[in-house]
Amino acid sequence: MTFKPASWPRRLRSQEWFGGTGRDQIYHRGWMKNQGFPHDMFDGRPVIGILNTWSELTPCNAHLRDLAERVKNGVLEAGGFPVEVPVFSAAESSFRPTAMMYRNLAALAVEETVRGQPMDGVVLLVGCDKTTPSLLMGAASTDLPSIVVTGGPMLNGYFRGERVGSGTHLWKFSEAVKAGEMTQEDFLEAEASMSRSPGSCNTMGTASTMASMAEALGMALSGNAAIPAVDSRRRVMAQMSGRRIVDMVKDDLKPSDVMTKQAFENAIRANGAIGGSTNAVIHLLAIAGRVGIDLTLDDWDRCGRDVATIVNLMPSGKYLMEEFFYAGGLPVVLKRLGEAGLLNKDAMTVSGTAIWDEVKNAVNHNEDVILPVEKALTAQGGIAVLKGNLAPRGAVIKPSAASPHLLKHRGRAVVFEDIDDYKAKINDDALDIDETCVMVLKNCGPKGYPGMAEVGNMGLPPKVLKKGITDMIRISDARMSGTAYGTVILHTSPEAADGGPLAVIENGDMIELDVAARSIRVDLSDEELAKRLSNWKPLADKPASGYAWLHQSHVRGADTGADLDFLIGCRGSPVGKDSH
Ligand code: FES
Repeated sequence: MTFKPASWPRRLRSQEWFGGTGRDQIYHRGWMKNQGFPHDMFDGRPVIGILNTWSELTPCNAHLRDLAERVKNGVLEAGGFPVEVPVFSAAESSFRPTAMMYRNLAALAVEETVRGQPMDGVVLLVGCDKTTPSLLMGAASTDLPSIVVTGGPMLNGYFRGERVGSGTHLWKFSEAVKAGEMTQEDFLEAEASMSRSPGSCNTMGTASTMASMAEALGMALSGNAAIPAVDSRRRVMAQMSGRRIVDMVKDDLKPSDVMTKQAFENAIRANGAIGGSTNAVIHLLAIAGRVGIDLTLDDWDRCGRDVATIVNLMPSGKYLMEEFFYAGGLPVVLKRLGEAGLLNKDAMTVSGTAIWDEVKNAVNHNEDVILPVEKALTAQGGIAVLKGNLAPRGAVIKPSAASPHLLKHRGRAVVFEDIDDYKAKINDDALDIDETCVMVLKNCGPKGYPGMAEVGNMGLPPKVLKKGITDMIRISDARMSGTAYGTVILHTSPEAADGGPLAVIENGDMIELDVAARSIRVDLSDEELAKRLSNWKPLADKPASGYAWLHQSHVRGADTGADLDFLIGCRGSPVGKDSH
């Protein structure tokens, strides 16, 4: 912890727009005054942008305008000038072809929104899966003082007395319908029970994971991640964050002071302890790239290897975010990591103090939700990084969501060339497949889909499900929803659309998985693999124009975070020339 607060008062960047009596300053101030802001609001106090991903088409963030008002209260109380600014919002539930394709576009828009306007610090008002990483990426690239406030998870879902987890039960119910164990009518009735309140997915899916990652990175106030969206304490958190960002601007406490290599190591270990989403791998790699931190897949494996999954939440366990909050939330988990010697205790947080000071007094109120380590869901819960001739640059698997008996397996490949091929064949009883096979899905990576859709946990064939089998090994270059489960190998790099070995796997090839040895291989000689690769041709042409063209031309592999190559790095927040 080497941070030294800047001296205060000093002239802030917003004064380049608002401070002075020249024509340009009068122009900038005068137009703002049409909203009724008094003259002294422009006197050099910190201008705080509240970057709001509110949208009625991003249902998980639809309540964020209310929280923005609470943030504003906090900013005003601390002597700042709050301005609410809408930013690009991509809903996981409905953005096509996939919200992931727009994460980088959103990050780019956020970066320029901040850099080009009179802001001294920003509050990142986020919730749904991609909104959290995209705003963190944009904020990291501008490196102005920034604090994350998430919208919080939905209340528990219940269907006929049973907990229903967002996403997790959607996959379960849809497999049950295919297996003939649930009627379509019951499925429709269950739909209404899944989303009972405002907020993001209530499982330890990607939204809850990324909220936890923001907190573990030190970019949100302690305790932020788990507070339910409708709990009054969520509003308090928003207000306190509004107060805090003003002091962060005065101290000049920036993302680069908080998101150090030590902070990323803390987040990776926290991800293992909470049984977090595999999507965190891609997002943290991308965020690190924006701050200029050298974070790799090997860091994920190194840091996550010995972390036990102690948070008993779906999809790995049985509870939901509401219970995690009542049990004490992420501070309890971070305290456990610290006691086990797995936390960089000195890592700085947005509160201005070390992370250990934030969590050392946390109390676990429910040991069935946050388990003692001897009752952990898995002793080695971190994301495992696999390598071999099928994934030379790596692939990932979440052991806590996998079936233990499949973690070492050799099976015959059943290949789907893309998602349409999968959909066309999977329900056909003539498909030559059984539960010992390995399902292989190609062309669903960052370039291939495009956008790397969450289709890696492809549903099993009905004829296997009808035998009562609920898991098979699946391999792809896709992602998987954080709410999903199964022995699913993801992010295979290089991806098929980029000519990775995945592209040339054929029906009948034998695939060998050994998670303990971190190995994923196809039983082919080097000569045979090289021969097939020399004959490989991409499946589809690149789009000729538009954002899809930009994305496919510049997106990097999943193994480095799938950012656009020209957006990697921190470009800071120079004020630039006035245009008048
Ligand atoms: Fe938005 Fe899950 S779909 S958080």
